[in-house]
Order: sequence, then C-alpha cells, then structure tokens
Amino acid sequence: KKADATIIIIFGGTGDLAKRKLLPAFYNLFLEDWMPDKFAIIGLGRTPLDDEQYRERLHEGLVEFSRTKPDKSKWDSFKPAISYFISEINKEGSYKELAKKLDAQDAEWGTRANRLFYLSVSPQFIEAVTVNISKAGLASDAELDRIVIEKPFGHNKETAIELNNMLTQTFQEKQIYRIDHYLGKETVQNILAFRFANALFEPIWNRNYIDYVQLTVAEQVGVEERGDYYEGSGALRDMIQNHLLQVLCMIAMEPPVSFQAEEIRNRKVDVLRAIRRIKPEEVHQYAVRGQYADGWLEGKKVPAYRNEPDVNPRSNTETYVAIKFFLDNWRWQNVPFYLRTGKRMQEKTSSITIHFRPVPHSTFANSQSDSFMNNRLTIDIQPHMDIRLRFMAKKTGLEMDLNPAEMIFDYDKCSTQTPEAYETLLLDAMLGDATLFMRSDQVEEAWDVITPIQEVWENRESLDFANYAAGTWGPESAEALIAKEGHVWAVNLHSK
Ligand code: BG6
Repeated sequence: KKADATIIIIFGGTGDLAKRKLLPAFYNLFLEDWMPDKFAIIGLGRTPLDDEQYRERLHEGLVEFSRTKPDKSKWDSFKPAISYFISEINKEGSYKELAKKLDAQDAEWGTRANRLFYLSVSPQFIEAVTVNISKAGLASDAELDRIVIEKPFGHNKETAIELNNMLTQTFQEKQIYRIDHYLGKETVQNILAFRFANALFEPIWNRNYIDYVQLTVAEQVGVEERGDYYEGSGALRDMIQNHLLQVLCMIAMEPPVSFQAEEIRNRKVDVLRAIRRIKPEEVHQYAVRGQYADGWLEGKKVPAYRNEPDVNPRSNTETYVAIKFFLDNWRWQNVPFYLRTGKRMQEKTSSITIHFRPVPHSTFANSQSDSFMNNRLTIDIQPHMDIRLRFMAKKTGLEMDLNPAEMIFDYDKCSTQTPEAYETLLLDAMLGDATLFMRSDQVEEAWDVITPIQEVWENRESLDFANYAAGTWGPESAEALIAKEGHVWAVNLHSK
C-alpha cells in the first residue's frame, strides 16, 4: 500500500540525520516503488543554498550511506521532488512563507496533501517549531498532518510529561510519531511474528520454561562527535530508556488481540508497568555502570571517554550500563531480565538470548558435564541477523554421547536486501500507522523505570571511573551482577 500525496518537511534539513538516514531511506523507498505517486521533500535550514546545491549535498550522503548506491537515471527522476527552503526556526515569518509553499504544492497537485513534519532538531527547538507550525496553521488537518520527533523525549519523567503536554497543545496524540529506530529493525519486528504466528513457542514462553533472558546491545564506536549531547545523557538515558526497554517489551508482552497500533502499544505499556521499580537503596544490587578507559580496538589505540572531544576530563557520565529487572506479573514472576549496553566494547553486536530451564531429570551420563547445555534461543539483531535454537543432539558414533547443536534461521540466506529501520518507519509514518512508534504513556513509564537508578547515580560523589578498557566487554562488576544467580553473559561466551 502506498500513501496518498505527501509533502515531507524536514526541520534540520542540512543536518547529519537527513543526510545519513532520512534521504537514503526515502530514496530506497522510491526505488522500490513505495513512495506516494505524488510526493515532495522540503529540507529546511538556515544555510543559504539553492535547490541544486541542496540536492548535491544529499546525493553525497546517498553515495556514502545508502544501502543501494545511487544510479544516475534513478537519481535524476527522484531529485526534482527535493527542494530547499531557507528558514529560521524562531521566526514566525519563515513559517508564513512555508505555508505559501505548501499551499502552492497542493494547488499544483489539485489536492490537500498529507504533511509530514520531521523534526530533526535539538530538543530545545521542538517547542519553537511546534508553536510556529500551529500559529501559521500549517498542520490544520488532524487526519492528514503528522509530526515525527526524535529522542530524547525529555530528560526525565517530569520533562517528558512537559514535552508531551506541550506537543498536545498543537497536535493530537494520534498525529505525534515518536521514533525509536530499534523498533524499525527487521529482526526486532520479527520477534512479534516469531512469537505470535507460531503455535510452538508461546506455550513455553513463560516462567515455567524460561530461566532468564538477556539483551545485549554492544557497540564498538565511542562517543564520536557527540560528546556535548552525551555528557548530559549517558548510556542509561541514551539506550536503556528507549531502545532496550522497547525491545524488552516485544519479548515480554502478552499476545495482542490484533495488530492494531493501540492494541500493540497497550500490551507494551503493560510490560513497562509490570517492571519492578528498583528502590534507591537497592540500585547497587541491580545496576552496574561503567565508563571506558583508553584501550585497543581492532588493532588501533582508542582514547578514554574522558579524553574525547567536548567531554569533561572528570566526567562521571556512564558509557556502559548493565541492569537486572524483574517483572511482576503472572508470566514472568522471578525470571530475571538482564540488559546491558556499552560503547567501545569488543564487538558490535546486539542480541537477545532466552535461556530455558534445565531438563528436570538427567537421563544421560553427561547431563552434568560442561558440554551439556540448556536450550537457548538467540535472536541476533545486528550486525548479523539470525534466529538460533540450541538443543542437545547425539554425536554421531557408537556411543551415546551428546553435544549441543543449533537450528539456524539466517536472514542472509533468505533475502538479499534488508530495508533499513528508517525505511520501515518513514513508510509507516506516511501511511499513518503508529504501531512502531512510542505513545506518550510508553515514554513516561520508561522514564519511571529508570528514574531511581538515574537519581542514585547522579547523587553519588565518589566514583572510580574509568572502569573498563576500550575493547573489552565492560566492567567486571557486570559479570558479578548476574553471577549471583549462577548466570553468565551469553555473547562473550559464544557457546555457553
Ligand atoms: C542512538 C544512540 O539512538 O542509537 C547512539 O543515541 C547509538 O548513541 C545508536 O550509537 C545505536 O544505534 P544502532 O542502530 O547503530 O544500533
């Protein structure tokens, strides 16, 4: 299904996101014939550029970042849809001029087009943009007009509520698309298909069969050029509050009655509400933080976090977090969910592992040995995408010797091209499908979950950062965090 005529208006049109992610996503949608028959992309910015210069910039982004390299004739048929509009975020006049441009486009097409306002701007500008959109009457149709915003959605629960209140003065909740790009990842979406389109897994998807669940999002990159933003954020806010908690919701949610946006989002918010809140005095038992020191990654020396640009040399900002959560509901009582994420880790890898309980009785001689392993389901989110089920099998031979074996569903073997998360999400936003976007209550609950940890960490004065070397798997205390239950982190122990 394609959307009706749509005008995409990108605030922050000359920024990094537009170049790296948004334009490549629209271009790839265009190549695969998903763009509306009538569409226009208007980039907004202060830099004086003409349409041709702007297109040229975006073309450079395509060459560098698109999953399909731009083909001359395809680009020539795509680029006339792109234009540039010089504007000032805080100037009412700019929005009046923009209104004229949008109206002219509608008149040319002979229809009132959908308007998708994409706010790729720093959080402090969101208010100015929405107020001015409203004053200029740009988003006058609640059915046709939508606004997409990027995280961070507030800095804590209070500011998230303020932001939501501010947004709903101009837009109805159904017009607000809060993007969490993890939800657009192919493998993350597949969790729902895997769980709810198969009769096999759901009956064992609970505390009776599952021992514990792990979710790792490890990155090799450091903080790069984003020191300024990251100093005020840290890994807890940057990754756990949004991406990791959203993925946890997909694993833990109850079966939805339908695939309607509100239904899915209701089931997900139930999970967030069920997460047991960690008390301030318990934070040290449930959460571990880290900051990378210098170290070696793939043969190169990399600097410590405190020596990165725009980072305070005495910074206490965490670049690594590991947390143990419990969910207070029937399905998950007493099943630990271990989440961890970090920058400058040994490998770039994101995966979910579901660890099943041991067999109730040891029939085989080696059931107690190290090579006897419990069933485990691994969902590798990235960079490699697969689903693997570990089970015990007989070794070929005359003796009854057992070994772990794996059944693997490998995405690479089934498809050649995987859409980028932004393609899926932008298409949904154009179509008005909010299933994969965050509703205000999801955002607020997620803040509520991490608030106690955040507060305790912010208040503690004596820290012994940096506590893990770049190129490792994070601080040792993260191992200790789960070793208490006799568990180990799955990814760095491939076969365990
Ligand atoms: C972003 C964070 O939301 O996600 C970044 O702000 C992080 O710090 C990025 O690097 C990770 O995304 P991905 O898709 O590369 O796993």
